[in-house]
Amino acid sequence: MNNLNSEHAIGIFDSGIGGLTVLREIKRLLPQEHIIYLGDTARVPYGTRSAQTVLKYSIANTDFLLRQNIKLLVIACNTASAVATDALRERYAIPVIEVITPGARGAVRSTRSRKVGIIGTETTIKSNAYQKAIRALNPQIEVFTRPCPLFVPLAEEGWCDPQDEIVRLTALRYLEELQGHGIDTLVLGCTHYPLLKGVIQKVMGDPVTLIDSAEETAREVEKLLEENGLLRAQTGKGTCSFFVTDIPHRFIETGKLFLGKEIETVQLIDIL
Ligand code: DGL
Repeated sequence: MNNLNSEHAIGIFDSGIGGLTVLREIKRLLPQEHIIYLGDTARVPYGTRSAQTVLKYSIANTDFLLRQNIKLLVIACNTASAVATDALRERYAIPVIEVITPGARGAVRSTRSRKVGIIGTETTIKSNAYQKAIRALNPQIEVFTRPCPLFVPLAEEGWCDPQDEIVRLTALRYLEELQGHGIDTLVLGCTHYPLLKGVIQKVMGDPVTLIDSAEETAREVEKLLEENGLLRAQTGKGTCSFFVTDIPHRFIETGKLFLGKEIETVQLIDIL
């Protein structure tokens, strides 16, 4: 294991570009931190694969990030968070932050009706990770779930406009079965989904609060770094380095939608 040092970067991985929504919030809160982001674009999507396969990919991603001397690992993918967190924490000595617990915490704080909806990939929903996390915080909350697999390719394609019929009808088909349960809070349990916030809000209606775990995750990163004396001293802006396992130009094109700004350089790596 590398010696943890506050000057080292925060390592983040996702199956593709979804984790950029988490990176954006971390950067907003901690602009001085260096960040190394790995998008496993050769193997996206994770959400339709088995837990064992996602774990195997998560280990390869973490091994790569550790070779870059990171001080903290952020699993910016709900699917990998749901099925790989325990194994990664056991395997590596580095602090690991996942995105499920922060999302569950946000939902518990938000709900008044004690009825919460969760949308995510098939593997995330099947893992019951959100139910477990919410139940641990408040066993009285009822949880309703729905996998929305087509949301990931829509977001990767940049098809997110709520006025677009394909986008609207896809959202309607998935979300209509969540309506009528009295849900007042819906967790966007996939890091790709914040891009579809507009259409999801439109279909669910304004009284439903959408929970995007990115902000809460960023606060958790700050807290953990602080507790471990690993916050980088405020000496100007930190750097962001991007790595992908396939087709960098696609990551650059769609990535700006997720990040809200241009990505200049992306390096192609081979960890397969
Ligand atoms: N971003 C991933 C997540 O949060 C999902 C995308 C995928 O299926 O790879 O679950």
